[in-house]
Amino acid sequence: MDNLEQLVAAAVADFSQANEPARLEEAKARYLGKDGSLTALLKGLGKLPAEERKSAGAAINVAKDRVEAALTARRDALREAALQLQLAAEALDVTLPGRGQAPGGLHPVIRTLERVEHLFRSIGFDVAEGPEIESDWHNFTALNTPEKHPARSMHDTFYLQDGAGRVETDVLLRTHTSPVQIRTMLAHVEKYKHLDTMPEIRVICPGRVYRVDSDATHSPMFHQVEGLWVGEDVSFADLKGVVADFLRRFFESDDLKVRFRPSFFPFTEPSAEIDVAFMSGPLEGRWLEIAGCGMVHPNVLRFGGIDPERYTGFAFGMGPDRLTMLRYGINDLRLFFEGDLRFLNQFN
Ligand code: FA5
Ligand code: MG
Repeated sequence: MDNLEQLVAAAVADFSQANEPARLEEAKARYLGKDGSLTALLKGLGKLPAEERKSAGAAINVAKDRVEAALTARRDALREAALQLQLAAEALDVTLPGRGQAPGGLHPVIRTLERVEHLFRSIGFDVAEGPEIESDWHNFTALNTPEKHPARSMHDTFYLQDGAGRVETDVLLRTHTSPVQIRTMLAHVEKYKHLDTMPEIRVICPGRVYRVDSDATHSPMFHQVEGLWVGEDVSFADLKGVVADFLRRFFESDDLKVRFRPSFFPFTEPSAEIDVAFMSGPLEGRWLEIAGCGMVHPNVLRFGGIDPERYTGFAFGMGPDRLTMLRYGINDLRLFFEGDLRFLNQFN
């Protein structure tokens, strides 16, 4: 039976050399298949003399069991190896930090607007809004702006087109928040027309405005906050007090100078630009314009339905983008509107 020993050894060697399932099945066929060598031995039993047949059959069956056991072991080994390979290929490193979800945050200019609203509400102002697509009448005419004023030119103002592509000179993107003054006065007068004395108007109007403009301190879209206070005894002294107090609270600094520089606006008389300068820090001593202001022009009060002989008021229009630049020390306004997360994330 040396023969059988050799056959089993050959089968075991063959199986262990088969390194993929198909090769292993081919090797199996050589021993256990229809024409396999073990199968041939079993078939040959019939030709043996009867007294040898029994022990030979038993020996062949033992050999067959050993070959089958080796086959099964090799099959399992190959399956295990394939599994390990697949696991390695699909491995997840559970120790890596997750990608997570970045928390959102408010845009720095929106933070400024919220702060401005909070501070003005605390001294009794309401917040009003108006449309960004505005009529020429609200944006210019009712604000006492003459027909030939340069701000009305196409170089400075975005006009809208009608369906046929013709420019409609009476519809435009508002160039400032001042038209909300007119809308506020008209609505206020209508609301209180049954009273002998109109309650005071005290309102701020934050929002986006548009101009044909672009450099480090001018963007074609920017923000303004209009302020309007109309009543029976409102004076320029009130304007100065409200604005100076607001600025000190906004910048949390008494180390701040506020200057009213004479200027001109068609809708106020007298008019001024408001400049601020810090007495310490990196911007020390530099004056920066942050708003225009003045006493509401009598013609504007009339367009708003208010009697200028009885009521007076002040108005201002400030640039919250510039307030934000000053507060955080940013030198280019355009950074605010480029959507670069590396810039914006610094504020959250
Ligand atoms: C006005 O727009 C007037 N309506 C302000 C006003 C209101 C005066 C009420 C009197 C009474 P001016 O064009 O100067 O004025 O703009 C006001 C402020 O908006 C400026 O001081 C500046 O802070 C800001 N600003 C103006 N243009 C830009 C721009 N292109 N980009 C960013 N901020 C701007
Ligand atoms: Mg100005």
